[in-house]
Amino acid sequence: MFPTIQTLPELERWYANAGTQLYGGEAISQLEHALQSAHFAQLAGASPSLITAALLHDLGHLLANQQDHDVEQGIDDHHEALAVTALKPLFGPAVLMPIALHVEAKRYLCAIEADYLASLSSASLQSLQVQGGVMNQAEVAKFAARPYAADAVQLRRFDDQAKVVDLPTSSLTDYLSIAAAVSLTAQSPL
Ligand SMILES: [Fe+2]
Repeated sequence: MFPTIQTLPELERWYANAGTQLYGGEAISQLEHALQSAHFAQLAGASPSLITAALLHDLGHLLANQQDHDVEQGIDDHHEALAVTALKPLFGPAVLMPIALHVEAKRYLCAIEADYLASLSSASLQSLQVQGGVMNQAEVAKFAARPYAADAVQLRRFDDQAKVVDLPTSSLTDYLSIAAAVSLTAQSPL
């Protein structure tokens, strides 16, 4: 059983503790990856909900405690579904749906953009295989018709950029204030 997260301080603790783990096969931590994803969402003028989704999109990796060798061994932790389940008490579909669809969005982009597949890091290519590989045409059409598919594709692009070593960003507290403003219970941030 994986936990659900009821409050923003709980969320903060997950990132402060488990967030120090390396982001699967990359040279940065999970926390840095989360902050950079939110940073690139903010730079692109994304909505507060999408900035929040960007910040939290890989929370499932922290909850599942995924190890690098899991991907190498073909194990998919289904981190997008874990994050959505955990975050349901706190956020509505504008935050949860882009998170739910961000892995599918990678499979989608690989199918529709020739350059996209070639641009993936080796860790991302490896996880693509365990996530189902490149979408076929029927899957592409079905994905594109889903609500929040466009937001999920944008989130994917922020995710892909968010692998820079030593990039200065705003703090976790700053981004959690944005999350607080769009949370279902409009909680005070910390
Ligand atoms: Fe990510």
